[in-house]
Amino acid sequence: MSKTLFTPGPTNVPQFVRDVLGRDLIHHRMADYHQLLKDINEDLKVVFGTKNDVLVVTSSGTGAMESTVANFFSQGDSVLVINTGWFGKRFIEICNIYGLNVHELCYEWGKTYNFHEVEEVLEQYPEIKGIFVTYHETSTGVLNDLKSLGQLTRDRDCLLIADCISGMIVHEFHLDKWGVDCAVASSQKGFLLPPGLSFVALSDKAKLAMERSNLPKYYWDYKKYFKSFNEKYEQPFTPAISIVVALRESLRYLLDKGLATVVEEKRMLRKYTEEKLQALGFKLFIEDDSIRGNVLIPVIVPEEIDGRQLTAMIDERHDFTVAGGMGEYAGKMLRVGILSDVTTKEIDLLASYIEESLLEL
Ligand SMILES: Cc1ncc(COP(=O)(O)O)c(C=O)c1O
Repeated sequence: MSKTLFTPGPTNVPQFVRDVLGRDLIHHRMADYHQLLKDINEDLKVVFGTKNDVLVVTSSGTGAMESTVANFFSQGDSVLVINTGWFGKRFIEICNIYGLNVHELCYEWGKTYNFHEVEEVLEQYPEIKGIFVTYHETSTGVLNDLKSLGQLTRDRDCLLIADCISGMIVHEFHLDKWGVDCAVASSQKGFLLPPGLSFVALSDKAKLAMERSNLPKYYWDYKKYFKSFNEKYEQPFTPAISIVVALRESLRYLLDKGLATVVEEKRMLRKYTEEKLQALGFKLFIEDDSIRGNVLIPVIVPEEIDGRQLTAMIDERHDFTVAGGMGEYAGKMLRVGILSDVTTKEIDLLASYIEESLLEL
């Protein structure tokens, strides 16, 4: 059975990547793996826009999010979480579990943050040591501006930590230039790989904070990862070797194509999909075009329709999988993901299946 995934990750995995995934394993303590990790690191530096080495960890995105909390802070440190949806809230939950003093700025779903409010919180609480923000908020489709936040934290003793799990690849990103201190991304999104790997990029400022942190960590201790990489081009623990091997293929594909081209293609596909869905009578969830991301198109389902039934029908009859709404938008929203390598042809097909299902429902 094969399905076309219009979901904001996992995506469909291209055939040339699947061919590599099916190969027998190599060993992660041998010379060929060392070369592989070295090559991948160079490519990831380009993707993240940084001069520093990028850690490749075996985990889903949430584990990598947790690792950012555990590695830079100490018990009782104050942090600010900019919460623009489901995944922003996750940072609050993780920071609370680690005993940090959490300030929150919460925004209505479908909106971005207010820069002046962030500025005010930093003025009022100069002890804040880090800001957590979601680059692309997958529950709402909003793309939060990181560049402005970077200008705010650059000259302060405060880290900017960005969850770029869904936002990476399909939007411009420059860790060093924008003044982001830590960014995490995961394999199952724009990288077109199965779930299992996450990537963590760090600024020099973040590396200094890492030396000071006293929160407990073992598997997540970045110092272990840097030591293994610096000494041997290895990771400290057994990595998801098959996905690391496949990562080199997907990175080559993306970089050969050119990241700017990928971003532009996705932007155009988003526009195209928005128009198609509007023509079917759906209302776009995000009013402000300038904050719409290229990961998914969130639309409100007409009141008389149950979004869950709609997505189930398309999935079961046509093997086209579309994501529904999260939280209070469950059953009321469609999130049509465009991270998979899909074209307008598949979008047209999807639109016809949606139309057919709407008529029946
Ligand atoms: C923005 C964002 N953050 C965090 C996560 C959580 O990642 P995972 O499910 O890989 O743990 C996701 C997953 O969809 C996401 O889109």
